Amino acid sequence: MSAVAIPDVKTVADLATQPEEYRVAVEKIVISHAVNELYGAQVFDEPAIALAPTPYAKWLTCRVAMEEYHHHVRFRTLAEEMGVAPERMDPDAKRPLSIFEFQLRTWPEFCVIKAVADYAEILQVEDLLHCSFHPLRNLARITMPEEKFHAKFGKDFCLELIQAGRAAEVQDALDRYFPITPAFFGSSNSKNNEMYRRLGLKQRSNDEMRADFLGRVTELVEKDFGLRLPVLQ
Ligand SMILES: [Fe+2]
Ligand SMILES: [Fe+2]
Repeated sequence: MSAVAIPDVKTVADLATQPEEYRVAVEKIVISHAVNELYGAQVFDEPAIALAPTPYAKWLTCRVAMEEYHHHVRFRTLAEEMGVAPERMDPDAKRPLSIFEFQLRTWPEFCVIKAVADYAEILQVEDLLHCSFHPLRNLARITMPEEKFHAKFGKDFCLELIQAGRAAEVQDALDRYFPITPAFFGSSNSKNNEMYRRLGLKQRSNDEMRADFLGRVTELVEKDFGLRLPVLQ
């Protein structure tokens, strides 16, 4: 049995010579990142600046918001280079992910979102480090240290709240936010994910990523925070 060759596409110009299936798959991934980075920055990171309780926390939150907006700009710029029409990156045209439907109201909620959701984002970006479309690989490499900073920001501020006697607020935020996060990784038998792996755009199945995420969040919540991970229905 001869193995099907996985494409190795080094530039945006080379993308134009690829089969339609490959081009469409790359577009889907880039558009999804462009839309969700912008939407996340608008509904969580920028509003959180007003919730941050100290000048230092405000400064760090500004930095997080700036970086999330910049992630959007990087993915949108790549999409534009690929010839994607701007209206396809409009959140009205492409629905943002369900993890953004949470109504952010408090600082502990934001800290939990960063600790948990940005860890999920790290796993997604990590998967793109070996992407067969090199411009996406390069974007993943630049974005990764910033996503790691966001997850650490969330963890550090959750620990600060816990040490200040506010563990119940962190637990309450986890109880309400964590259950919506596993869906971030997509469905178990996703046709898109199957196609992405066949084309070498992504490496792991949605379920493998979800299992990795659940293992890591369990460790974070139970070992680092000394709290309970809510039971998923
Ligand atoms: Fe981001
Ligand atoms: Fe982030």
